[in-house]
Amino acid sequence: MAALGTENVISVHHWNDTLFSFKTTRDQSLRFENGHFVMIGLPVEGKPLLRAYSIVSANHEEYLEFLSIKVPDGPLTSRLQHLQEGDSIFVSRKPVGTLIMHDLNPGKHLYLFGTGTGLAPFMSIIRDPETYDRFEKVILVHCVREVSELAYHDYLNHELPEHEFLGDIIGDKLVYYPTVTREPFRNQGRITTLVENGKLAEDLGLPQLNADTDRVMLCGSPAMLDDLTSMLDDMGFKASPQQGEPGDYVIERAFVEK
Ligand code: A2P
Repeated sequence: MAALGTENVISVHHWNDTLFSFKTTRDQSLRFENGHFVMIGLPVEGKPLLRAYSIVSANHEEYLEFLSIKVPDGPLTSRLQHLQEGDSIFVSRKPVGTLIMHDLNPGKHLYLFGTGTGLAPFMSIIRDPETYDRFEKVILVHCVREVSELAYHDYLNHELPEHEFLGDIIGDKLVYYPTVTREPFRNQGRITTLVENGKLAEDLGLPQLNADTDRVMLCGSPAMLDDLTSMLDDMGFKASPQQGEPGDYVIERAFVEK
């Protein structure tokens, strides 16, 4: 398969028992838009076993980074979770995806709503300088069941604002709002609930979500996408009809069945 390359694992980070991330080398000819995903995988019984993974790292980085759950009997993740520095991994050469900034109408505030590993594509989008040219505020809402699933929490709170060149570009435009549903935490509740009861806007000190000024990107489970798209449709947001045709929101399924 000519469209498949091989990269080497540079480092692995385990967030908890169910979640880990890893960095790999990046073929310099691999070009992608922030928000895109690639197929990655390992050889299983002599054949590549591949799954879609959003790219966490921004397209200006020299490496690739991915975020994954660990499923004990998952065909791929049961193997992937044992990756170690120096191991090789398949990476497809054709990044694709629908979470593309250019498929959003102009707007004032960009809301990035992610649940679980649905955070991954937004990690790359919030590190794209162009995001901050296009929007006055970028609000990253990450909703998980348990506190330990808040991957990149410290990075988002402390390191990114201090980043040597992104720090100035991001300034106070990026707002990170983590929320947890099954444990006590400073913010609690599902994204749907927090939008509907007005708590999100209240906590952020911003107007309630509205289709005139706000644009949205969604990444999560099929159930989360169903509920959030119905909510947005009811509020008058128009979905991007297809790639290349802008709308008020774009969606991507978080790739979780591994
Ligand atoms: P909850 O704990 O109330 O189910 P999952 O791991 O199932 O994808 O869930 C990740 C996060 O997304 C959890 O905090 C979960 O909340 C939330 N979630 C699950 N389903 C929906 C939905 N239909 N709408 C909004 N949030 C959801």
